[in-house]
Amino acid sequence: MNKIVLITGASRGIGLETAKLFAKSGYQVIGTSRSKFDLGGLIKNTDAKSFELDLMSKSSIKELFSKLKSEDLLPSVLVNNGGITKDQLFLRMKDEDWDDVIETNLNGLFRVTKAFIKPMVKNKFGRIINISSVAGLMGNSGQVNYSSSKSAIIGFSRSLAKELGSRNITSNVVAPGFIETDMTTFLNDEEKIEVSKNIPMKRFGNVDDVAKCILFLASDEANYITGQSISVDGGLFMY
Ligand SMILES: NC(=O)c1ccc[n+]([C@@H]2O[C@H](COP(=O)([O-])OP(=O)(O)OC[C@H]3O[C@@H](n4cnc5c(N)ncnc54)[C@H](OP(=O)(O)O)[C@@H]3O)[C@@H](O)[C@H]2O)c1
Repeated sequence: MNKIVLITGASRGIGLETAKLFAKSGYQVIGTSRSKFDLGGLIKNTDAKSFELDLMSKSSIKELFSKLKSEDLLPSVLVNNGGITKDQLFLRMKDEDWDDVIETNLNGLFRVTKAFIKPMVKNKFGRIINISSVAGLMGNSGQVNYSSSKSAIIGFSRSLAKELGSRNITSNVVAPGFIETDMTTFLNDEEKIEVSKNIPMKRFGNVDDVAKCILFLASDEANYITGQSISVDGGLFMY
């Protein structure tokens, strides 16, 4: 089994921190994002590779697969992290707000997984870690599109776990709560205090709270864990 990880949405936030942690743990890290970025510089790891990949573009995913295959860099660990929000109350939600979020968060994840799973099946080893959200578990006003995409990821991951467990491929979900990243900057300080009142741990999470859970699911310690959804949300949602 190689120690190569592919992380989508690695230019910022949770993905970037995850890349940093995997690199520190001896992984060859490959990170992608919509826009051009220098992962090696950001995480101070000269082996790290960054590629532009648009989750909304089928050809972009195919191109990346071919490139990594030709460089003998096909990953044994896939972290489907890239995602967007386009929040709006349902009655005002435009078709494109729905389409863009489903296309990026769900269809993009489907396509990346489809492309990269075959070598894992062949090697009889793979770790798929999909990033959902507390919004996919409990729903959230203004996020019908986003919560739908994030709930679907849970069904996707569990079904995949059932299909591929016998091939030693695990498929798990990490469901973050409110984490301090660009995605939560739309909340001002007062709103953050209000939200934190409902979180048992009374604070937003940090990117490394989530990244550590992702690294755990890729590690030998999690070899017999599959089809699970682990919330990293300070206790916001318990079920
Ligand atoms: N932050 C939270 O509170 C929170 C809570 C629950 C779940 N999550 C989930 O955690 C994941 C990471 O969130 P984050 O807060 O770290 O987000 P973020 O800081 O907004 O970063 C999002 C990342 O996804 C990439 N991305 C967006 N659209 C893409 C596309 N079409 N193709 C390729 N890459 C694309 C971005 O690339 P560019 O830099 O090129 O735009 C960026 O690297 C997401 O799936 C999010 O839904 C976050």
